Amino acid sequence: MSMLAGKTVMITGASSGIGAAAARLFAEQGAAVSVMARRTALLDRLVDDITAAGGRALAVGGDVTRGQDVADAVARTADAFGGLDAAFNNAGYATAGQALHEIDEETYARTMDVNVRGVWNCLAHQIPVMLRSGRGGAVVNTSSVAGVAATGASAAYVAAKHAVIGMTKAAAADYGSRGVRVNALVVGSTRTEMMEQVLVEAPQLEQVFMAAAVQKRMADPVEVARAAAWLCSDLSSFVTGAAVPVDGGATALCD
Ligand SMILES: NC(=O)c1ccc[n+]([C@@H]2O[C@H](COP(=O)([O-])OP(=O)(O)OC[C@H]3O[C@@H](n4cnc5c(N)ncnc54)[C@H](O)[C@@H]3O)[C@@H](O)[C@H]2O)c1
Repeated sequence: MSMLAGKTVMITGASSGIGAAAARLFAEQGAAVSVMARRTALLDRLVDDITAAGGRALAVGGDVTRGQDVADAVARTADAFGGLDAAFNNAGYATAGQALHEIDEETYARTMDVNVRGVWNCLAHQIPVMLRSGRGGAVVNTSSVAGVAATGASAAYVAAKHAVIGMTKAAAADYGSRGVRVNALVVGSTRTEMMEQVLVEAPQLEQVFMAAAVQKRMADPVEVARAAAWLCSDLSSFVTGAAVPVDGGATALCD
C-alpha cells in the first residue's frame, strides 16, 4: 500500500540527511513532495532523482528563518500540487562542544532562529492552507533526544529542541478540533551532515552518542523518515500533540 498516495507534503531541510531521505521515501509512498532548503543545486538534483524514479517533486529554495521565504514556499507548493496535506518541518541547526557560558550570542541566536522561529514560521503559514482546504492536515516537527533531556555541552540546542516540542503541543491543542494534527519526532543520533559537523567539533561525542542508544548504534536517515511518513499519513489518525521517539531506545535510559 502507498502510505501517502494522493497527498502533497512540504519538507524543509531537504537538501541532505533526514529531509532528503524523507523526500525520496515520501515520493515512493505516493506523495507529491515540495522540498525546501537554501542549497538549491542539491534540491534540483533531488527533484531530478525523484522525477526519474516516477515521482512528483518541486524544489522551492528558501530559508526557514525568513517568513516571506516560507510563505512563498507554501504558496508555490499549493499552486503546483493543488493544496497542502502534510508538512515535515525538519530544517535544523546544531553546534556542540561548548558549555553554556562559552556559547557566543551569534550561535545562540542562530540556533533559536533556525530550530524555533523556523518551525513557527512553517506552522504559521502551512496550517491556514490546511484549514482552508476543509481536509485538515498533519504536521511533523523534528525535535531530538535533546528536546526531552539534556545532552552535555549544547545548551542552546537543548533549549531550542525542547521549544519545538512545546510548540508542537500548543499547535496540536489549537487546531486538533479542526482536523490538523501536529506531532514531533524525538530523533536520536543519526548519520547525517549535521552529525559529521558535530563530530568534527567534538569527536569525543561519537562514542557517547553510540552508547546512548540501547541499540548501540546511530540511525540511518531513512529510519527517521519512515516514522515521519507514518505521522504524515492517515495511519496515525488518532496521534496528535505527541513527541514520538525514533532514537534506538536512548530516551528509555533518560528517566
Ligand atoms: N543527525 C542527528 O543525529 C540528529 C539528532 C536529532 C535531531 N536531528 C535533527 O534532524 C533535523 C535534520 O538534520 P540532519 O541530521 O538531517 O542534518 P543535515 O545537516 O543533513 O540537514 C539539515 C537540513 O536543514 C537545512 N537547513 C539548515 N538551516 C536552514 C534554514 N535556515 N533554512 C532552510 N533549511 C535549512 C540544511 O540545509 C539541511 O538540508 C534537524 O532538525 C536536526 O536538528 C538530527
